[in-house]
Parts: sequence; C-alpha cells; structure tokens
Amino acid sequence: MQKQLIWDIPTRLFHWLLVICILAQYATAEWLDSATQWHFYIGYFTLGLLCFRLIWGFIGPTYARFSQFVKGPKAVIQYLGTLFNRDSTPVAGHNPLGGWFVIVMLALLIIQGVSGLFMTDDIFLDGPYRSAVSSDVLDLMNTLHHLAFDILLYVIALHIGAIIFYSVYKKQKLVPPMFHGVKESASAGITHSRILRAIVVALISAALIYLAVEVLPPVPDVSDMYY
Ligand code: HEM
Ligand code: HEM
Repeated sequence: MQKQLIWDIPTRLFHWLLVICILAQYATAEWLDSATQWHFYIGYFTLGLLCFRLIWGFIGPTYARFSQFVKGPKAVIQYLGTLFNRDSTPVAGHNPLGGWFVIVMLALLIIQGVSGLFMTDDIFLDGPYRSAVSSDVLDLMNTLHHLAFDILLYVIALHIGAIIFYSVYKKQKLVPPMFHGVKESASAGITHSRILRAIVVALISAALIYLAVEVLPPVPDVSDMYY
C-alpha cells in the first residue's frame, strides 16, 4: 500500500461546491425570505456543476470515470459480502456499492435542477420553461421538485452515515482524500488532474446552461399575465 493521488482536483472541487450549493438551495427555498432569485441563480450554477460532472465522468482521469466505478450486480454482491469485514482492503476510487450511490445522487440532483426550471414562486418569478408546457407537465415538475428533494435528504443522510460507518467501523477515513486527493492504495494512482481539460469542460458546461436558461426558453406570452 502506497500513498497515491486518487481524486483529481476538479472532482474534489465539484464535490465541495455541490455541497455548498445544496445547502444554499435549501436555505434560499426554506429559510430566507425574498431569496427566490438567488435560488434560481444557484440552481443554474448547480445544473452547470452537474453538466460538468457528467462530461467529466467520460473524459476525466481514471477514478472520476463512470466506467471505473459503475459495476455490474456480481461485483456489487461480492462487495456486499465484505462490507462488514473490518479489515477488507480499501478500494482506490468509489467502491462498487458507493458507485451506484453516486449515480443515484447525481440522477436525483439532475431531476431536482431540471424540474426547477418549470417552477414558480407564485408571486414574481417563473422558471424559464414555465410558459413552455401544459399545466399537467407543470404539476408533474412541481411534484418532482418537492419529491426529489425529500428523497435526496434521505440519500444524503445515508451518504454521510456510510462515511461515518467507514471511519468508525472499518477505520477507513474517506473524507480527507476528498480534500487533498491522496489515499493509501495498492492500485496505481493518477499522475495529474487534467486542469486544462477541466477548464474547457467547465466553459462548455457554462455555455450549455446559458443556452438552456437564457437563449432557448420561449418568451412568455404577455397577455397571459393580465388574465
Ligand atoms: C449536500 C450534501 C452532499 C451531496 C449532494 C454529496 C454528493 C456526493 C457525490 C455526488 C459524490 C461522488 C463524487 C464524484 O465522484 O463526483 C460524493 C462523494 C463523497 N462525499 Fe459527498 N455529498 C454530500 C455531502 C458530503 C459531506 C458532508 C461529506 C463529508 C462528511 C461528504 C463526503 C464525501 C466523500 C468522502 C466522498 C467520496 C466517497 C468515496 O470515497 O467513495 N459528502 N458525494
Ligand atoms: C439542484 C438544484 C436545486 C435544489 C437542490 C432545489 C431545492 C429546492 C427546495 C428544497 C425547495 C423547497 C421545496 C419545498 O418547500 O418542499 C425548492 C423550491 C423551489 N425551487 Fe428549487 N431547487 C433547485 C433548483 C431550482 C431551479 C433551477 C429553479 C428555477 C429556475 C428552482 C425553483 C424553485 C421554486 C420557484 C421553488 C418554490 C419556492 C417557493 O415556494 O417560493 N429550483 N427548491
């Protein structure tokens, strides 16, 4: 076992920015008055982060790639068999079970962000696609925006619970590597974080979100506002 760079800088930055954004989204929706405009802006930024992570999952360094950590049922069942084994060898990236957890979290967050684009605060502010769809679709999006977050809260609690379990029961500290990137591992680490590539992906993600929220949405029919 040797110290190896496992988590690249962009993946770490993605994670901690995501955590800050989710907290801010909760605060701007539930605690703060008149913060809906901020809720929209941070929501767009969160969608940008998610767009970045999706692309990074295909072209990022080894341990950021979906192909590295999304495993079939056999690997997951095999891993489950060792879950309560105190001295099982630490996995370099996401373990086969955690990998699926990551996919579930990302999927819920995408549902949350996309459904938000159809929401309204019922006073001044409408999401950019509010006027583009029928009332049935709006109802569905409204349900999804509330439901996905309720499920997310349980999933995040499980995520943090799992990290505490690994720390206390298995004596594997997963949090420090999410800050400095380095883990004790028998597998080969990555050689660098591909920062330049990450900047290009971030710019593409920002452009895609700008297109989706500023350029493509239909202009609302002003007559609707007076009747
Ligand atoms: C809003 C709350 C949170 C969300 C939505 C969230 C989401 C995620 C996601 C999507 C990943 C996968 C990272 C990637 O490959 O891109 C991840 C991994 C991770 N998160 Fe979180 N996270 C949250 C809070 C936390 C907190 C509070 C901690 C620390 C106590 C934490 C520690 C970690 C660690 C250590 C990993 C890597 C796990 C491993 O080694 O496989 N997360 N998280
Ligand atoms: C992933 C990002 C997002 C998260 C985590 C999030 C989270 C939330 C939460 C927790 C609520 C409160 C739900 C409740 O009361 O049960 C909420 C409400 C709302 N969200 Fe989001 N949201 C996100 C993205 C967006 C986006 C992109 C928009 C619009 C562009 C949006 C628009 C709204 C609106 C209009 C409300 C209702 C606020 C009110 O009741 O006054 N959200 N969101």
